[in-house]
Amino acid sequence: MTDAKTPWGGRFTGTPGEFQQRFGASLGTDARLYAEDIAGSIAHARMLASQGVITGEDAALIEAGLLGIQRDIEAGAFAFDLADEDIHMAVESELTRRIGDAGKRLHTGRSRNDQVATDMRLHAKREALRLLGSNARLRSTLVRLAEEHEGVVMPGYTHLQKAQPVLLGHHLLAYTWMLTRDARRLRFAYEAADVLPLGSAALAGTTFPLDRGAVATELGFSAVSANSLDAVSDRDFAADLVYACTLGMVHLSRLAEELVLWSTEEFGFITMDDAWSTGSSIMPQKKNPDFAELVRGKTGRLVGDLTGLLVTLKSLPLAYNKDLQEDKEPVFDAIDTLADSLRAMEGMLSTMHVNEARMAAGALGGFMAATDLADYLAAHGVPFREAHEVVGKLVLACERDGRRLQDLTHAELEAASPVFGADALAAIDIASVVSRRTTEGGTAPVRVAEQLAQASAALAADERWIAEHLGE
Ligand code: ARG
Repeated sequence: MTDAKTPWGGRFTGTPGEFQQRFGASLGTDARLYAEDIAGSIAHARMLASQGVITGEDAALIEAGLLGIQRDIEAGAFAFDLADEDIHMAVESELTRRIGDAGKRLHTGRSRNDQVATDMRLHAKREALRLLGSNARLRSTLVRLAEEHEGVVMPGYTHLQKAQPVLLGHHLLAYTWMLTRDARRLRFAYEAADVLPLGSAALAGTTFPLDRGAVATELGFSAVSANSLDAVSDRDFAADLVYACTLGMVHLSRLAEELVLWSTEEFGFITMDDAWSTGSSIMPQKKNPDFAELVRGKTGRLVGDLTGLLVTLKSLPLAYNKDLQEDKEPVFDAIDTLADSLRAMEGMLSTMHVNEARMAAGALGGFMAATDLADYLAAHGVPFREAHEVVGKLVLACERDGRRLQDLTHAELEAASPVFGADALAAIDIASVVSRRTTEGGTAPVRVAEQLAQASAALAADERWIAEHLGE
């Protein structure tokens, strides 16, 4: 590391030691913002020139110099100097090395405070779009699975105890709706970031005649911030994005947990593809769902990212405070962890084998037609609470004898309640138990088909939104 390079040398006679330099730096983390930083600087320089603040020649030198730096960074040919505190200093000092005095004019009417806020907003917008793309791919995998296994009945659970049979498609679509809401939150986070802070300078605005609207248009922002103090210290958009990521990850952790359970011998509902499984170094028979477990486990990181960011923001006085430099790690970690987890879930789901017969067999056990037997009595005039009691006794008797409700004879039903007619047994056939749940949002095949169309339409709408905003 060379001696600390600071842009405030005039005021100082001493320089920070190596520890202070390392403690104060963020370059290791925020180098990721290089493209946004360069785009923001080019827009600023062009605007300064068109406002007559710097010359056109200087702006052209700045632009060419910055694009050269970008090319070098992307080619892996840029040697970052850790003596530069952050990406803004690294780019600007290299620019000045390359083009001389013109480089020193770039920072006119600008502060790193409005610069970093601009970079982070550009980045949040870009990453929200990327996450929306991954979210859409996972949703389309879930929709395809629901279609492919149309008609497969499986046990539905409450308290992880068998409750009532449902269609596998219905179960998978439940996750599609969670992910549909996640997309709505990601779109909101995109819009929250879509306001330009540049032009706020350090905190109070600047004496130079900036055209903020022109910069906003060039960088693709829909609006300019209304208050310079707020603009340099507002990280709500970052918290919105991290919250959207965190709840999205919580949803993935629920699905991951089910994949873990379903791939056990006890459930046996799915067989994970070898490419998405691991073995054991000691137990030769093992096939472990590590990737699903990691998605479940990494959810803790996101909850930590969100909590850490909110605590960093808490009690900050206006305006910019260096605490805000700590926003980057949680934001980047939340984005990257969710992006990888969405990809892993898609990989697991699109390659796993669904053991339809195991699911169907599971749907026969657990007395899952008991509600239907009670409903039968209630529909024939018996008060539901009494019907519940009659059927409860039948379940108890069956359990004692190791029989299923479907094994009962009509005579046995009649003995329990004279209201049971000859058609009562047909009502507890598992296929009919499913197909008669026709309330809106219910598990009957007609309703699930309707839901599939709704989920596909919501997906198509989000895909259109993503395409429109990618094109901006
Ligand atoms: N690296 C800083 C950050 O991420 C940039 C802004 C520094 N501003 C300042 N006044 N020290 O927040």
